[in-house]
Amino acid sequence: MAKPVVRFMCQECGASHNRWNGKCEGCGVWNTLVEEVIERQRSGVASANAPLPQLYAIDDPTLVDLTKTRYVTSFGEFNRVCGGGIVPGSVILVGGDPGIGKSTLMLQIACDVSNSTPCLYLSGEESVQQLQMRAKRVGVKAEKLQIGSCTSLEEIQNLLAKHKDTKLLVVDSIQTISSDSLEAAAGSVSQVRACSQTLIHLAKRQGISVILVGHVTKEGTIAGPRVLEHMVDTVLYFEGERHYDFRILRAVKNRFGATNEIGLFAMEQYGLAEVTNPSALFLSDRHQGISGTAVFAGIEGTRPVLCEVQALVSKSYLGMPRRTAVGWDTARLSMILAVLESRAGFSFGTMDVYLNVVGGLKVTEPAADLAVAAALISAMINKPVNPSYVFFGEIGLGGEVRPVHQTEARLKEAEKLGFAKALCAQRKKIEACLPVLKLELLKELSKHLG
Ligand SMILES: Nc1ncnc2c1ncn2[C@@H]1O[C@H](COP(=O)(O)OP(=O)(O)OP(=O)(O)O)[C@@H](O)[C@H]1O
Ligand SMILES: [Mg+2]
Ligand SMILES: [Zn+2]
Repeated sequence: MAKPVVRFMCQECGASHNRWNGKCEGCGVWNTLVEEVIERQRSGVASANAPLPQLYAIDDPTLVDLTKTRYVTSFGEFNRVCGGGIVPGSVILVGGDPGIGKSTLMLQIACDVSNSTPCLYLSGEESVQQLQMRAKRVGVKAEKLQIGSCTSLEEIQNLLAKHKDTKLLVVDSIQTISSDSLEAAAGSVSQVRACSQTLIHLAKRQGISVILVGHVTKEGTIAGPRVLEHMVDTVLYFEGERHYDFRILRAVKNRFGATNEIGLFAMEQYGLAEVTNPSALFLSDRHQGISGTAVFAGIEGTRPVLCEVQALVSKSYLGMPRRTAVGWDTARLSMILAVLESRAGFSFGTMDVYLNVVGGLKVTEPAADLAVAAALISAMINKPVNPSYVFFGEIGLGGEVRPVHQTEARLKEAEKLGFAKALCAQRKKIEACLPVLKLELLKELSKHLG
């Protein structure tokens, strides 16, 4: 009998090594090599026998126009993140923390698509009874959706061979699927890679769209090799704060649409509901007349989202005053404090500073600098910010406020939500709908507060 091939696979980058090593030579990370028994390599098929691939002209009119055949679900937020719907034959990887709602969302999507297109939902994590229970809870109607519980790649292949009309396949999750031809455990790098590869081939050859649900590791990347993200067409992350019921579906890679696009959902008793007006959601509990809060007109993906930034400044009893930021980068907070001190004369040296982006949103745009500064100054001088103002602009180390991209979209959204004035750096030519107050020097900011 042929001896099985043993390889040491890096669980971080997927590199394969002949012998064990403390450090992976592929990615340089320590203690990531795990012994895996892999399939015996077939002794090279004679290349002369390999079939010739069919070639086409790039403008061949007989090819199906995929731009017109996307599966458009009734979840506008999901369509947006996918670039306008699911492209036939594409493979989408959906990652997210445990319990965030991946299975719920995918079940809802599959049910929705199944009303017009044959769909298969396979779970390796739940029994069909449990799937049915969830479907009942979220109240979806999908007589035509076929569900199954299965963990074997070969079973999936057989199923697809039998149900040739399947157009969408959901596999929840890729880490639970394993191939009999590999001896490695389910969820190991070689299994995840081999199973994904087979499913991707199937998708491309038979024009089936495949949605793979993936688990996320402690570090926040999809468990299994990074290569998985390279193999699929679209990578979506489903994220959210445990204590808030809204969830963000974020595209981090998309071969058929813009990345950094987000879709917003709210986790409700009856499953996930779309949030079509995020700004209204994030500003819904705004208390006016309190110092230390400012509204930031931000952009998430291609969409403007308004949110509230809160600051609290209190006398410090510590040798090194506290700087805490939730939803915003602490290093950036320190930078803004330093600029406010050096360029605008506000000293926070003996104060503890707390900053919070309301609603559990994480803001990464430097454009929020000005809103952060406004909240800080307002907290410092204990005067509420004028409630009809929104803020956006990047603050430079010289104390200057810089214009940011998509000014008009931000202004339009602010106007829609009833704001009267925007404080931002003005570009030369801008057709603003709001009166824009130009801010060259940060010092001017305090004049506009209160
Ligand atoms: N009866 C219920 N009422 C309200 N919410 C519920 C109910 N049952 C489940 N949920 C919500 O659904 C979430 C679980 O969703 P789901 O199973 O889709 O997550 P998941 O991302 O697939 O998790 P996993 O990674 O474990 O597979 C729970 O966190 C909970 O908030
Ligand atoms: Mg799940
Ligand atoms: Zn490695």
